[in-house]
Amino acid sequence: MTAISAIPGSLRATEAIETRRSIRKYHPDMPLHHLQEILRLATLAPSAWNAQPWRFVVVASPEVKTQLHAAAYQQNQVLEAPYTIVLYSDAEDTLHTAIETSHPHFGEEGQIRQVQTLQKALSRLSIEQRAQWGDTQANILLGVLMVAARGLGYDTVPMLGFDQSKVKTLLGLPEHVTITALLPIGRAAETGRPHHRHSLERLTRYV
Ligand SMILES: Cc1cc2nc3c(=O)[nH]c(=O)nc-3n(C[C@H](O)[C@H](O)[C@H](O)COP(=O)(O)O)c2cc1C
Repeated sequence: MTAISAIPGSLRATEAIETRRSIRKYHPDMPLHHLQEILRLATLAPSAWNAQPWRFVVVASPEVKTQLHAAAYQQNQVLEAPYTIVLYSDAEDTLHTAIETSHPHFGEEGQIRQVQTLQKALSRLSIEQRAQWGDTQANILLGVLMVAARGLGYDTVPMLGFDQSKVKTLLGLPEHVTITALLPIGRAAETGRPHHRHSLERLTRYV
């Protein structure tokens, strides 16, 4: 039996996408191992050079939640949810530990060449540009994470409404990292709003 079937209520990917809504009210219970399985699935997201610059802080303690709530303009979902995932990217750590993510499939020499290519490309960028690069990768993971959560019966709300510096200080994160989003997660205690989206015709051109 795979880890995924240990969580009741797995949905097909299409169902998970259709039924995902931003949820701001939660039931308090969520086993830690369910959260860990959702995070594991999210880390299967793709990234340039497989560099995986994303990192997580999981906020569960009432004291830290209260401070995070203050840094997130008193948005109550941070207090309501059993956990809030603080998703951030650390391009500096990525740059200096590239050997960890270079695929063994390339063989030893190939791995070293790949590390050199990645380091050369990232070294040309400023710290700010590298941070932007890391944030782009982490946003890909964010999408996968929300769908993985829904697929296993949990709900989320992505949040950019928070003060970057205050959250970094609160969690002891270095200045150079970028926080991609706060993501409260848990079992929904509300239905959320129906989707309200542009039509495909409004968004798409065929050439
Ligand atoms: C990058 C991003 C930042 C967001 N920030 C917040 C936020 O700070 N607070 C909040 O309540 N919702 C936030 N949302 C949720 C959006 O309001 C929501 O995704 C949108 O209205 C569509 O609704 P749905 O997620 O239910 O489909 C954010 C969504 C995204 C993608």
